[in-house]
Amino acid sequence: MTLEQAKEAARQNVNNRIKTEGRLSGKIAIVTGSAQGFGLGIAREMYKNGASVVIADLPAQREAAEGVAAELGERAVFIPVDVSDEASVKNLVCDTVERFGGLDIMVSNAGVAKAGSVCDMDLKTFEFIAKINYTGYFLCAKYAAEIMLAEFEADKTRYSDIIQINSKSGIIGSKNNSGYSGSKFGGIGLTQSLALELAPYQIKVNSICPGNFYDGPMWSDPEKGLFVQYLKAGKVPGAVTVEDVKKFYLAKQPMNTRGCFPADVAKAIFYCVEQEFETGQAIPVTGGQVMLA
Ligand SMILES: NC(=O)c1ccc[n+]([C@@H]2O[C@H](COP(=O)([O-])OP(=O)(O)OC[C@H]3O[C@@H](n4cnc5c(N)ncnc54)[C@H](O)[C@@H]3O)[C@@H](O)[C@H]2O)c1
Repeated sequence: MTLEQAKEAARQNVNNRIKTEGRLSGKIAIVTGSAQGFGLGIAREMYKNGASVVIADLPAQREAAEGVAAELGERAVFIPVDVSDEASVKNLVCDTVERFGGLDIMVSNAGVAKAGSVCDMDLKTFEFIAKINYTGYFLCAKYAAEIMLAEFEADKTRYSDIIQINSKSGIIGSKNNSGYSGSKFGGIGLTQSLALELAPYQIKVNSICPGNFYDGPMWSDPEKGLFVQYLKAGKVPGAVTVEDVKKFYLAKQPMNTRGCFPADVAKAIFYCVEQEFETGQAIPVTGGQVMLA
């Protein structure tokens, strides 16, 4: 299906939705990077609350992603994507419309973190992070907007949502982590600007800024996880083990008995979707670690 065909199909099907139980009943959602980690947990919560969910992840994650789609049920499907590749994102959006008839919520969650001091970080790594976290979000927002604008033309009462899973490092700097933090700050700029541009069409654009999900692979992977990366980068003074790094990070949060869970992030997603009078926000979910003025 071409983009023009997808837009036409989305117009035709604007009120043709599967009605279910739950806060997202009838919504069609894409969650990028949902084969594991936050994305997986978010996809589970959204499905449980009635949404039809596209598990969108790299082709290399096919086995895991198909397993997630099978676990969720008939309103879930895996569609491969590389969010840093324009043709691939366009294809994801068109395939979603072909499969479900439209698009109501784009969750741009896929992201990568590579820590390192400014002198140690080479340009290739810096650009790799930016291409996924920043450019990838732009591409997901761009092609989601194409469909959502067409849907709004067909039904001017409808609202839709573009939601970026950002980070607390998108609202405060992160030492020895400038590539990641910079890419996330850029995402907030996109969110605010796209929110202004798309508000007349009732397309809300928000970023959710989670705190650390210590139990997920991004932190706990024994080879590539942030605990190991931060230990090697000397980010935590005096730390000699991964446990030292973990203790240091838990102590940073006023609510310090645990890190952030996908279910905490999902509550912020429900807020964005249910809200009809807010857009362009960066919503922290950090256990009090980051407080807005
Ligand atoms: N883990 C945390 O503590 C934490 C905290 C704040 C924000 N975040 C953000 O949450 C999001 C998810 O993080 P996570 O911890 O679940 O990470 P993760 O590494 O566990 O999972 C990321 C997923 O994204 C996929 N992915 C990577 N590159 C991709 C690409 N080019 N195209 C499509 N998919 C791609 C991976 O295959 C993987 O399934 C990221 O945007 C991250 O910056 C994470």
